[in-house]
Amino acid sequence: MINSALMNVMVKAARRAGRSLKRDLGEVENLQVSMKGPANFVSLADKRAEEMLYTDLNKARPGYGFLGEEGGNREGTDKSHSWVVDPLDGTTNFLHGIPHFAVSIGLLREGVAIAGLIYNPANDELYMAEKGSGAFLNDTRLRVAGRKQLNECVIACGLPHIGRGDHEQSRKEMTALQPKVAGLRRFGAASLDLAFVAAGRLDGYWERNLQPWDIAAGIVLIKEAGGTVGDIHGGDVLKTGNVVCGNEFVNGELTKILRPL
Ligand code: IPD
Ligand code: CA
Ligand code: CA
Repeated sequence: MINSALMNVMVKAARRAGRSLKRDLGEVENLQVSMKGPANFVSLADKRAEEMLYTDLNKARPGYGFLGEEGGNREGTDKSHSWVVDPLDGTTNFLHGIPHFAVSIGLLREGVAIAGLIYNPANDELYMAEKGSGAFLNDTRLRVAGRKQLNECVIACGLPHIGRGDHEQSRKEMTALQPKVAGLRRFGAASLDLAFVAAGRLDGYWERNLQPWDIAAGIVLIKEAGGTVGDIHGGDVLKTGNVVCGNEFVNGELTKILRPL
């Protein structure tokens, strides 16, 4: 647990938005059977959650900038600090009633992620980390997994969906990794993939073309859990969105395989 004033603000905001999403998940389950499906409803749920987060975070820290997936960038008077928020990460899961999605809140100072919170309201798992204070899942301190043999590792990835990303490249990555690891996973919420690496549930994770709101919070979690996280090609991952992470060994091995592809 981290008891700082900052984390209390983030937890309160995430829990309120999470309650709203959890209620809406119940409605999504009802709408599955309708002809129109829940798509419009989900898009409203998403926007509603972001507005709640903006209201709460802005009230507690007036002046901080706010970058949200739905509302874009809202400049603040304090140019050093900015929230980076995905109100609903794992939309496709949510839309299908799959209880694996999260609210993700990152805080940047001078462009560097210094605090992160990822909350899945469906199972009440709350991950938090603050630079220098460690990473936690609810009350439990987190540590990345220590495996040093790729063939014992479970690795998650992203898969670009219809109309997005480079499908050919993605297939090449699968072909390269599949025979080398104990298992590949695709869970569908980037923030939780990062949180799972921090928690040692996954040994590593990579995905290309992500956005800052998908990864800002998770970056802090992994670093504070003793892991390494970066860009596949060595750039600034918050800018490129091509993330690779794990313990130092796993990160290195994944990078070696993925970089040339
Ligand atoms: C998506 C999820 C997914 C990842 C996509 C993201 P969204 O975010 O994190 O796991 O593969 O690239 O865009 O759209 O559900 O917020
Ligand atoms: Ca997202
Ligand atoms: Ca989203």
